[in-house]
Amino acid sequence: MDFERELKRRRDHVNEVIRSYLPSEEGFQKTLFEAVNYSMLAGGKRLRPLMIDCTYEMYGGQGKLAEPFMAGMEMIHTHSLIHDDLPAMDNDEYRRGMKTTHIMYGEAIAILAGDALLNCGYRTAASAFFTGGRAEDDAEEAVCCDAESGRRIARALRILTLKSGMDGMIGGQSCDVEYDGRPLSEGQLDFIYRYKTGALIEASLMIGAVLAGAPDRDVKKLEAIGTDVGVAFQIRDDILDQVSTTEELGKPAGSDEKNHKTTYVSLHGLEDAERQVELLSARALDLFDTLSAQHPFLRELLKQLIKRTK
Ligand code: IPE
Ligand code: IPE
Ligand code: MG
Ligand code: MG
Ligand code: MG
Repeated sequence: MDFERELKRRRDHVNEVIRSYLPSEEGFQKTLFEAVNYSMLAGGKRLRPLMIDCTYEMYGGQGKLAEPFMAGMEMIHTHSLIHDDLPAMDNDEYRRGMKTTHIMYGEAIAILAGDALLNCGYRTAASAFFTGGRAEDDAEEAVCCDAESGRRIARALRILTLKSGMDGMIGGQSCDVEYDGRPLSEGQLDFIYRYKTGALIEASLMIGAVLAGAPDRDVKKLEAIGTDVGVAFQIRDDILDQVSTTEELGKPAGSDEKNHKTTYVSLHGLEDAERQVELLSARALDLFDTLSAQHPFLRELLKQLIKRTK
């Protein structure tokens, strides 16, 4: 398998799907639509929708059921980034190689663009209930999916709402900002990483599998894999914040130090942090190999995250 070629092919597909759910920039709220599209199309690795796509395929998912969830997940993730960059939170001026949304459009529109994407993320995912995933709720021609797909979509929505909310990503972000500048215990740091970053990665791996009808045992394992991959992903993010450059990252290097964050790196040092990323990733890959279905590309993607440079 040519990993890079396959990654590009899959990412192009994800981008096409995302684009098809974005608003056209017209009407009185045109500026809001522009801010939403600006942040969504600024680039980004698209890791979470890629994961949904892969686990859907891995368990034999057919058709387009996962597409509304792929676009919806990326909207919710992008909402978290817009708000994370605001002056009230990390106060950062670059994201995905471009000026942040609040620098381009002002704070008020950036807050609303974040809100709009969170809401639109759920609305987009819920459109999976309608055949083709596009029909508006009140459209007469809206055709509901079959009962089994309906059950799977409901379960996937439950995961998406749980893992992105106060018992997931937002819960983690709230502790991250509340404990700013204070020394953290190991337990607090682990909670923050699992929730602010792990939760959406867990959800992405689980949702594709649930939509394809994977066995419950595998969905549980995918959640555990997502936790380890997510915590490793955040530790790697902290390492890069310290050792990389703003140019390479497309977001400000040194943001954690500026905000007096306690991170895995500031607690344990770079070497230990790198070792921990490898350890968590190896544990995740071992568990991945025990799943009842396999997906060599997804396995390689998870493995490559250990050494990612952006
Ligand atoms: C950034 O996520 C926020 C963290 C959880 C560290 P990504 O590194 O996936 O950001 P994009 O989507 O590629 O910009
Ligand atoms: C935030 O972690 C993770 C989110 C849920 C947005 P960071 O604050 O470290 O993410 P970056 O470095 O700004 O992408
Ligand atoms: Mg932050
Ligand atoms: Mg940040
Ligand atoms: Mg960071």
